Amino acid sequence: MFKHIAPYAGDPILTLNESFGRDPRAHKINLSIGIYFDDAGRLPVMAAVREAETAMLQNIAARPYQPMEGAANYRAAAQHLLFGAQHEAVTSGRIATVQTIGGSGALKVGGDFLQRFFPASQVWVSDPTWDNHRAMFEGAGFAVQTYPYYDAATGGLKFSEMLAAFGALPEQSIVLLHACCHNPTGVDLSAAQWAELIPVIRARRLIPYVDIAYQGFGDGIDEDACALRALADAGITFFCASSFSKSFSLYGERCGALSVVCPDAAQAELVLGQLRATVRKNYSSPPTHGGQIVARVLQTPALRAQWAAELGAMRQRIHTMRSRLHAVLSAKLPGRNVDHFLTQRGMFSYTGLTPAQADRLREAHAVYVLRSGRMCVAGLNSSNVEATAVAMAAVLAAQA
Ligand code: LMR
Repeated sequence: MFKHIAPYAGDPILTLNESFGRDPRAHKINLSIGIYFDDAGRLPVMAAVREAETAMLQNIAARPYQPMEGAANYRAAAQHLLFGAQHEAVTSGRIATVQTIGGSGALKVGGDFLQRFFPASQVWVSDPTWDNHRAMFEGAGFAVQTYPYYDAATGGLKFSEMLAAFGALPEQSIVLLHACCHNPTGVDLSAAQWAELIPVIRARRLIPYVDIAYQGFGDGIDEDACALRALADAGITFFCASSFSKSFSLYGERCGALSVVCPDAAQAELVLGQLRATVRKNYSSPPTHGGQIVARVLQTPALRAQWAAELGAMRQRIHTMRSRLHAVLSAKLPGRNVDHFLTQRGMFSYTGLTPAQADRLREAHAVYVLRSGRMCVAGLNSSNVEATAVAMAAVLAAQA
């Protein structure tokens, strides 16, 4: 019955992470998947999360089905973190937010909603983007195209080409944007560049779909949300998929949200209704536990402050690793500009390694980066950063 089914070729991120798990070499280093590890190479349980969860376990509550849109306290907490509790879009009730199964679940629910109500639109993603974006939007029934973004020559942004491309898109094109900590390149728009892009989005009547999976890992919790707030300030109607996987180190709990910023509260109510319908058709309603941990942390002032401090330390540790990597690489590769490791933001950097060089790094040195050249800087630590830099320098020098 199933003989005609093609074998699954695997996923460029998840399958590589599985291969890492099977690699018997003791000195192996995992810089493949977007997961934050601490300086001891462990996946952390944040103290604020532990405290909130411990308190929840003191008073184990009954677990009815959640509403299709998820828990009200979680939805409010997510909205406040993204936009600021006092933002006019929040206080006027013009944002429809649903709790989703991770940021991926948000992308999918929003994708299905858009396919239903804007079936003639196409989706435009940055070149490059997170490997799964294309698959998710194609899975929702859209044709997916790319717009210019990463400049391999400089390790920076092709901003003027991007701006020109946006200016030429058909009306109601869906443009997938990363709010901060661009995955996979680490190259973000500055606040000034967002200020230039937003009028083009408005003039072309585009539909921004902003992915924010790394809030707090770039420049700060509020700083990383500046693009969302600028879009909302400008009165743009847009979609936002957000995730607490990384910022709460709660990957497997699948805590995400989809927020649709609408022109007014009446339209937000209509959108919320159809998002509820979309969720019901997909998986009926989201799970309880992880979302309640997040809501408790964000809505308890002492826990929230503790969480923000912990996240700040994670962000700082990534900056330190960037500097140490940069120091060794610039010493070992004189004449080669490696400053992009310092300027890129968040968990990822585009190393400039070719697929063949990434293979060599893995096979000869047991250092795992994606074949696209993406490295997860958050997998570096005091014990492996030197070895990683030395191995990368050797591979880059050999095939230069
Ligand atoms: C990544 O980009 O590595 C993470 O977002 C994990 C994933 O699901 O791909």
